[in-house]
Amino acid sequence: MEPRTSHENLLTDNPALYEARFPDADRLAGRWAEDCLRRHGAGNRVLDLGCGTGRDAAHLHAAGRTVVAADLSDAMLAHARTHHPGPDYLRADLRGFDLPHEPFDAVVCLDSALLYCHTNAELDGFLASCRRSLAPGGLLVAEMRNGAYFLGRTDLLDTPAVNGFTWQGTAYTSTTTLSLDRTAQLLRRTRIWTADDGTAPHEQRSAWRLLFPQELRRLLAAHGFETLDLYDGPGPRTAPAWQEGAAPGTSADRDRLHLVARLTGLG
Ligand SMILES: C[S@@+](CC[C@H](N)C(=O)[O-])C[C@H]1O[C@@H](n2cnc3c(N)ncnc32)[C@H](O)[C@@H]1O
Repeated sequence: MEPRTSHENLLTDNPALYEARFPDADRLAGRWAEDCLRRHGAGNRVLDLGCGTGRDAAHLHAAGRTVVAADLSDAMLAHARTHHPGPDYLRADLRGFDLPHEPFDAVVCLDSALLYCHTNAELDGFLASCRRSLAPGGLLVAEMRNGAYFLGRTDLLDTPAVNGFTWQGTAYTSTTTLSLDRTAQLLRRTRIWTADDGTAPHEQRSAWRLLFPQELRRLLAAHGFETLDLYDGPGPRTAPAWQEGAAPGTSADRDRLHLVARLTGLG
């Protein structure tokens, strides 16, 4: 059966399926973010951008923070409001936003959500919006793929990654192929989903911007941010994974990047 192609995202359209496919029972991502906020003395008001299912936002809320969480997916927001209550969930586009609850003491942007800014103009839109919505000295905490990983390495590109899991009695298989668009600095992803419930295979395409560490530092500086930490691990999605008390690394070579930057207003 030929797969149907769609730019919609089976996972963001089915948040419960997203959590089943990418479980984080220990709330590592939320705990890592909270640890960054504490370590750098952030105030209480936090904005989680590209909040997805809301599990990290809810963790920050449970840690005592006042959290606004925003996403572009109505399905994600509906799921978050029901399953991870506490934060104020809003629809907003991270590539340019203006939210009612500003100013914030920190913006959090996890699991490569920042890399949905594909073009330089979109990255400028994101950082200009962060700058506008943060209080002086506010923090940007982000966790994402590392563009530099792809310099000289092809292991993630050579072989499609096949993952299988069962959710609500249906066995799903995803076959994910990554390719580089060097001109646009995009990592393009084609994912074919099959399920054993008789539905037709479903093909999805998406892409992430590939940002290099020094490029990111320059971009942040241009928008008035000082980079405090920029390292490949340990983090919530690294192996070995981050644990409470683990110090930030000093290299930016592996496949994830972890960023903490402070708004200084210069630049
Ligand atoms: C990989 S998920 C990460 C979700 C969550 N931060 C986490 O770590 O579990 C990326 C999220 O970004 C959202 N997203 C994609 N493009 C966006 C945009 N332009 N503005 C706001 N959210 C966006 C998607 O709907 C999705 O929920």
